[in-house]
Amino acid sequence: MLKDKIIIIAGGLGLLGKNFVKGVIDAKGSVIIADINESTGNDFKKNILTEYPNAILDFHYLDITSESSIQKLIKFTQKKFGKINAFVNTSYPRNQNWGNTFEDVSFKDFCENIDMHLGGYFLCSQQFGIFFRQQGFGNIINISSIYGVIAPKFDVYDGIAINNRTMTMPVEYAPIKSGIIHLTKYLSKYFKNTNVRFNCISPGGILSGQPQEFIKKYNFYGCSKGMLDPQDIVGSLIFLLSDGSKYINGQNLIVDDGWTL
Ligand SMILES: NC(=O)c1ccc[n+]([C@@H]2O[C@H](COP(=O)([O-])OP(=O)(O)OC[C@H]3O[C@@H](n4cnc5c(N)ncnc54)[C@H](O)[C@@H]3O)[C@@H](O)[C@H]2O)c1
Repeated sequence: MLKDKIIIIAGGLGLLGKNFVKGVIDAKGSVIIADINESTGNDFKKNILTEYPNAILDFHYLDITSESSIQKLIKFTQKKFGKINAFVNTSYPRNQNWGNTFEDVSFKDFCENIDMHLGGYFLCSQQFGIFFRQQGFGNIINISSIYGVIAPKFDVYDGIAINNRTMTMPVEYAPIKSGIIHLTKYLSKYFKNTNVRFNCISPGGILSGQPQEFIKKYNFYGCSKGMLDPQDIVGSLIFLLSDGSKYINGQNLIVDDGWTL
């Protein structure tokens, strides 16, 4: 489905990102893994090339909050492949106090997390949007969340702690993720008649070693599975990257096993 497509995956070394990279390679796309975590980037690239010897991929450093870093990534990819078909943003910047309960979130932490995450998604969309408009085509997919769509079901976190820290859904996540969905809609309209489209995917909770008690409470609201595996999001990404979704623009595809219903 993605033959001859050049796809950049920002946050490509993360839980979802690594699975997105593999999914794109499985669909015969070429990938640039872009991530701030330079130390593991080249190792992951080597592992992928062992698993998929014919894959066309590379790693490039990216800080989504830096305009010059985004520009370097665009220039690198453009020079290497002569074009860029799509930019996927699945990065997850957060500061060291991320995860505090509502009463303990300082104004500084609130602003800093919104700056890095929502601000970074804005900056990437702006810089790639401008590049894609000049190029004459492009496709941007931002990863939001179910928590950009509905308020948290706080009961699933009640009384559960990880490493002595009370589990919660951080307050910053609500404006960040709802902001990303609406930013994406704004951009779809702003880039009217440019052959550049913008969409979101909003995944539900992804399994990554959470306490069983939490998983049980969370799964109560699912329709069949509840918490999803990272691979469960890949098919939707491939569809939005493919020409099969050519006229889907400004949408938010919720992939959550019906959790938000
Ligand atoms: N994991 C979930 O349950 C879940 C559910 C719904 C939505 N999401 C969203 O999916 C996306 C990916 O989540 P994840 O669980 O894979 O996160 P993760 O923490 O596993 O991976 C995020 C990646 O982003 C990179 N990153 C952080 N700051 C960066 C920056 N400034 N510039 C470039 N890269 C940076 C990290 O190095 C890491 O590789 C996030 O936007 C998250 O909000 C996750």
